[in-house]
Parts: sequence; structure tokens; C-alpha cells
Amino acid sequence: MKSQTKSRNVTIVGAQWGDEGKGKIVDLLGEKAEYIVRFQGGNNAGHTLVVNGKKTVLHLIPSGILHPGKICLIANGVVFDPNVFFQEIDSLNASGAFHGYAPHEIVRVSERAHVILPYHRTLDQLREDHASKGSQGKIGTTGRGIGPAYEDKVARRGIQVVDLLRPEVLRQKLEKAIEEKNILLKHLFHSKELEFAPLYEECLKVGERLRPFVADVRGILQGALTQGRPILFEGAQGTLLDVDHGTYPFVTSSSTVSGGAMTGSGMGPQAMGSVIGITKAYCTRVGSGPFPSEIEETEPETANHIRKIGQEFGATTGRSRRVGWLDLVALRYAVQLNGITGLALTKADILTGFECIKVCTAYRFGGNTLQDFPSSIEVLSQVEPHYEVFPSWPEFDTSKVQTRKDLPEELQKYLDFIEEFVGARVSILSTGPGREETMVFENPFVG
Ligand code: IMP
Repeated sequence: MKSQTKSRNVTIVGAQWGDEGKGKIVDLLGEKAEYIVRFQGGNNAGHTLVVNGKKTVLHLIPSGILHPGKICLIANGVVFDPNVFFQEIDSLNASGAFHGYAPHEIVRVSERAHVILPYHRTLDQLREDHASKGSQGKIGTTGRGIGPAYEDKVARRGIQVVDLLRPEVLRQKLEKAIEEKNILLKHLFHSKELEFAPLYEECLKVGERLRPFVADVRGILQGALTQGRPILFEGAQGTLLDVDHGTYPFVTSSSTVSGGAMTGSGMGPQAMGSVIGITKAYCTRVGSGPFPSEIEETEPETANHIRKIGQEFGATTGRSRRVGWLDLVALRYAVQLNGITGLALTKADILTGFECIKVCTAYRFGGNTLQDFPSSIEVLSQVEPHYEVFPSWPEFDTSKVQTRKDLPEELQKYLDFIEEFVGARVSILSTGPGREETMVFENPFVG
């Protein structure tokens, strides 16, 4: 297999159902970038970073923020909750994370990002309650208002960040939005109606505080691109939660694949650079939806063990994550969809000392063997996984690993098999939450 190409820019995406450890890899590779960009999703994400033993969880601000002086951008494609943003700014400020910079010097928010308002959260939760009584069941959203905010955006009635700075435009848009939301709240959900004045006042106040952070993020990025400054695009959630290509309708409402990095930030495809797909050595999923290699019912003890030592509880909602074996059919699909040039395999330490490890290499359905990820959710919900079994590897000292040959033989074989199957190199291997517990075999950044 070819070495991955090096590039000035790098795009990082989740190659599973989210929670693959993107925050850690963005923090790690962020050292070589000058600009770090969130391009989709919102504070449904929970990116956990551990630096010098100290844990930081970020939901909205890009995970490059812990490196001094990096420009962290929230681009057009993000749905932006200003309250969460200011909580993060205040907490990072209190812990000295801005290294003497004023927060607005290094964190900028696109004027065209759409704003998550309190009624989006309310509607998200009401829709979920309502759905749980129907036949389809609920999606299991994070309840952060993500879907309803994207709905308003696509319906061309959303409120953008720049509107918070324009009282008259805001008044008109908010009046219209509230009129419509109140019909839904009153007649569909039989819930309390919204009042215009307090929300309007609150939005104006938030707008004033936000003013120094608001920028033409696309323009900033275009300048960086023209000058050849290294840019890191930080994906949130994962490929299988993509609204177009994931396990619809059990998905999030944004474009989580690498193409979303370009539409969400306003760049042409040449800006994408290398694409690093993050995958755990096993799989997890939060919320509802099909999960072919899930082992909650078939191997509950193993699932509980992995959940416990892997700390598989949501960084955003605290929900316990469903656990399964690594699914190479789904991973190959993710490699193809994203144009992944290198994989970062995380949590390899969690599988040490197991009697055996399984990986799913095909699905069985109606007497047939499926090699490819089916596009029908009905089929995907009924497939039976076919597994290959591998021996586990012993514990090893990450700091002594210089090349792949220094890894335990069993782990080398496991990686070789994955690469051969999915058609992408494992260029980064992670064995713990800390920066130092990472082996970078091929850094995707030039230089
Ligand atoms: P929403 O994004 O809150 O609308 O949730 C839609 C689906 O995506 C649910 O199944 C969530 O559990 C899942 N989801 C959203 N964000 C994340 C994430 O950052 N990690 C894992 N799952 C997520």
C-alpha cells in the first residue's frame, strides 16, 4: 500500500458513528496548523482533550485552541449556540488557555453561521418525546436543538449570526419565527407559547457581546489559503451520521463527510488536503439506529467490559454508548465516501489482553453475503455480521515505538488486515487519551 501524500492542509473526519477520538487527533495535528476550523454540526459534539493530565471537553470551539496562538474558526456550516460558546470562552479563559491573547483575536465566528435559539432546543426535545410515542421511535438526539436549527436554515427562515448585530432585521425575522413556532408549540405539542420581547432583548445582548468575534470566516480562510498557511478542518460526529450518506433517518442534520468541510467553510476542493479518518479499534454508537456489529445482546459481558475500560459514555450527554466490534464493511464505505488518505486508529489499548478480537468483514442477509454497506436502512437493520477472529496483543510501552515494526506482532497483523481490507494506511495509532500516548507513523502535514 502507498504511503499517504503529505499536504499543506488536513481534513479530519469521524469514520464511524462519532466519538472516535477526533478531539485528541485534532489537538495533536493542530500543532502543525495555523488555522483550525469547525465546519458543521454544533454543540452536539463533545471533543475530549487531555494535555499534561488535564482534561478539557469542547463542544463548539475548535480543538486546536490549547496550542498557543492558533486561529480557531467557526465556519458558515456550523449551527451556533451563543450561550454554549460563551461558557466555553469563559472556562478556557479562566484556565489560561488563551495564553495572553484576547479571546476574539484567535477565535472567530462566521457571520453566516446559523444561530441555535432556545426554541430550537425546546422543539428538539418535544419532537423526540412525540416520536417516542409513534411507530418510528425517537432518533435519540443530543437535545441541543441541532436538527430544528438546520431545518430553519434549509427552509430559508433561519437567523444568522450577523442578524444578532442588526436590530431591525432581527426583529422582523424573530417575529416571523415566533409566530410560526407558536403554532407548532400550541397546536402540535400542546406546550407553552413563546414571548417575543424577552427573547429579542436577550438576542441583542448576546449580539453585542459577540460583535468582536464575528467575522467573514470564508474570507479569512481564503487569505490563509492564498498565503499557503496550513489549515486543519475539524469534523464533528461521524460519517455514518451524515445526513446524505449515513443511516438515515438515524443521523445528525449536517454533512459530516469530508466534502462538508468545503461546503461548510466556503473553500474549493483543492483546500481539503489530506483526509484523516478517525476510527476506534472497535465501534460505538449513541442514540437509535442500526448497528450491525453491536454486541450488547450477543456478548453483553464483553460490551460492558469495553464500555467500562473504554469510558464509553457521551461527553455531551453522559449517555452510555452502545458497543460493538470493528466493522470493516462500514469503515471501507467511510474510506470511499471521504476519500480518506490515512486512518488514525484510536483506543487500541482497550483491546489488550482479550482472549480474541473480532472484526466484521461481510454482512449476511436473506441467504446472501453482502460485501458493501447497504443503502437501505431496512436491510442494514436485519443483516447478520460475519466476523474474522484475531488474537489480542499484549500491553506495550508506546514511548518505545519508533516504527510499525516495534509494535507487538499481533497488533501489526491486525493493522495490516484493516489496511488491506479498507484500502487506506493507518498513519496514526493512539493508545490512551494523552498527547504522548500516540504514534504518528506518517504526519499528513508537509514539513
Ligand atoms: P443530533 O445531532 O443531536 O440531532 O442527534 C442525532 C444523532 O446523532 C443521535 O443519534 C445522536 O446521538 C448522534 N450524535 C450527534 N452528535 C454526536 C456526537 O458528537 N457523537 C456521537 N453521536 C452524536
